[in-house]
Amino acid sequence: MPIFEIDGKLWLLETKHQAYAIGFTEKGFLVNTYWGERLDNIRNYPLPRDHFASDSFDSEFETLPEEFPVLNGMKFVEPCLITRFFDGTRDLELDFEKFELDPQANFLRIYLSDSVYHFRVVLNFRVYEHEDIIEKWIEIENMDGVNDAIVKRIFSGNFCLGGEHDYRIIHTWGKWFNEMNISDDSLIHGKVVLESRRLTTSHHHNPSVIFYPNKICESHGEAYAISLGWSGNWKLVAEKNSLEKTRVTVGINDWDFELVLKPQQTFQTPPIYFSWTDQGIRAISHTFHNFIQSHLLPHPNKPRKVLYNSWEATFFNVNLVEQKKLAEMAAGVGVELFVVDDGWFHGRNSDQAGLGDWWHDAKKFPNGLQPLSDFVHQLGMDFGLWIEPEMVNPDSNLYRLHPDWVLHFDKRKQTLARNQCILNMAIPGVQEYLFEKIASLIEDNDIQFIKWDMNRNVSEPGWDREDGGSSCEIWVRYVEGVYSLWQRLAMAFPRVLWQTCSGGGGRIDTGIFRYADQAWLSDNTDPLKRIFIQEGYSLFYPALTMESWVTESGYENTPLDFRFLVSMSGVLGIGSNLLHWSDTEMKIAKKWIHVYKEHREIIQFGRQYRLISPRESEVSAIAYQNDDCSKGVLFVYNRKMESESQTVIIYPLMLERNKVYQFDGLENRQSGADWMQNGVPLVLSGFSALFVPYNML
Ligand code: GLA
Repeated sequence: MPIFEIDGKLWLLETKHQAYAIGFTEKGFLVNTYWGERLDNIRNYPLPRDHFASDSFDSEFETLPEEFPVLNGMKFVEPCLITRFFDGTRDLELDFEKFELDPQANFLRIYLSDSVYHFRVVLNFRVYEHEDIIEKWIEIENMDGVNDAIVKRIFSGNFCLGGEHDYRIIHTWGKWFNEMNISDDSLIHGKVVLESRRLTTSHHHNPSVIFYPNKICESHGEAYAISLGWSGNWKLVAEKNSLEKTRVTVGINDWDFELVLKPQQTFQTPPIYFSWTDQGIRAISHTFHNFIQSHLLPHPNKPRKVLYNSWEATFFNVNLVEQKKLAEMAAGVGVELFVVDDGWFHGRNSDQAGLGDWWHDAKKFPNGLQPLSDFVHQLGMDFGLWIEPEMVNPDSNLYRLHPDWVLHFDKRKQTLARNQCILNMAIPGVQEYLFEKIASLIEDNDIQFIKWDMNRNVSEPGWDREDGGSSCEIWVRYVEGVYSLWQRLAMAFPRVLWQTCSGGGGRIDTGIFRYADQAWLSDNTDPLKRIFIQEGYSLFYPALTMESWVTESGYENTPLDFRFLVSMSGVLGIGSNLLHWSDTEMKIAKKWIHVYKEHREIIQFGRQYRLISPRESEVSAIAYQNDDCSKGVLFVYNRKMESESQTVIIYPLMLERNKVYQFDGLENRQSGADWMQNGVPLVLSGFSALFVPYNML
């Protein structure tokens, strides 16, 4: 059983490999006594113990591993909850109220409450035993019948990393056009803060991170992984205090934040998903890939189609005649989904106008989009469309009609970015308008795929609330608005697949994957850069969600085969202008799309192995293998530009030792043990890539 309860005082949450224990000390503090390897016997788990002040400057809270520290007492660790009550009191005193355990759902709720101010905090835990994931989140409730409670901060949770180690943190950072760089840094005495204040998750830091105490590599080492399921402003604080204790708090960013809980109102935080391993970074990746696929994605088992996207081919210059030609060419090489990107809607000829007016541009599509959609369907492809629902250009009918619908401060200048403003997604009328427009598009044009974009960061986050509530809630209510619109559309059109995009990888997280089936990682489609972006992405996010297009971007002499092989390691797409491709290029495309379709099951649903990182060598390699180890594919990339051929040895450490394998193109049939020990010799010419399927015999 994944959740044990002992005397209503101690709870043990177990997954396949990890355990997480929480319980009350004698003084009544709820502490996290253990997070790590699953132990054989319940008696072996550490019991909750009280700690003592070290002197009059450092109280017990500096070392006590509180599960959910709130602002109170002589405490200087980061609290997860800061409130202000009607009389100005800012401390909370929480006592145990009750717990509820639902063994069928592997779900535990622990209720704590402040009896003076009638404020309740519920800690929720859900255990995904086989997936090795535990999820936790918080609910708060103002039970006072009369007074509001002001919430200045409400994080989703806190983690106390064991021992007095020098922990390090691995996370991805970047910017537009350069997302998902992997960094590996020491925590200092003091705090490391990662956050977004940009309204979305951001290109700059990703809220899925790994902490580790000693050494780590792909296959060995202890790691604690934490991922926040939230697509708005977030904050992670990792603190190593002067008593050598390391804590991590994470949740919705409290910067410019305020929540007013009216009497009887509740609020629920986004979830944190977490996992422990002693099997290195790869185990964390596998755990999250599997979890995201099996528990978050709306269409977990649908093979992702080979797509064509018009953006880099035509930019805003979209029209029926050319799109039809492109569609014909795309179908000819085996594309299965044709997506019309930006430029198709009313008044959209550049980034100056049109956003908000979500109907076809009558000059470009005199009879609407249906003739194109029908044509695409007749060619045997699905039809997809780009939208950017949250945005509006001042030069649009929508803005002229509803200038008050955008985020703004009445008496401040409006900052435009890419000539656009941000619609206030917290306003029900905005959601209603968007639902109606998007639903008609999907219905009228038989759409199977939507790319949902969001192309700017925030400014002037004002909100004239009709109900007099705090406008600082915008950071939360905006994201909830996006989620709820998306959810409504997903329910109305369950067969549509969705892509998340925010100028590339600005909104990628375990929150958005409850709505989006795949993601656009970066506007940078140069394969030499993409190899790195895709590696960073793979730390947490699965190949099934990783859309990657072949384009002309980057170094012009990059071979087309190389471009295809980089894109084939995720969800393959083409973004080039096919009307400019030669017969030879079309043949190459046809060949690789065919190969991809033969092997996509393994790439999209298999396990990924980062065999040689591009950060370590100019020759890098990844593999995908199915669960029973009977089939796999190797991708090898040589970024060295010199032209001589060289033999590289790849060690495929994921084979079954006692089974015999054969790699395409090599005559030898050897045991898995042999290949793993002696490697697979592959001949690579300069600046080239190889695709090598293999089989168990
Ligand atoms: C963003 C996206 C691109 C493309 C453009 C269209 O930059 O990331 O893929 O859709 O918008 O304006």
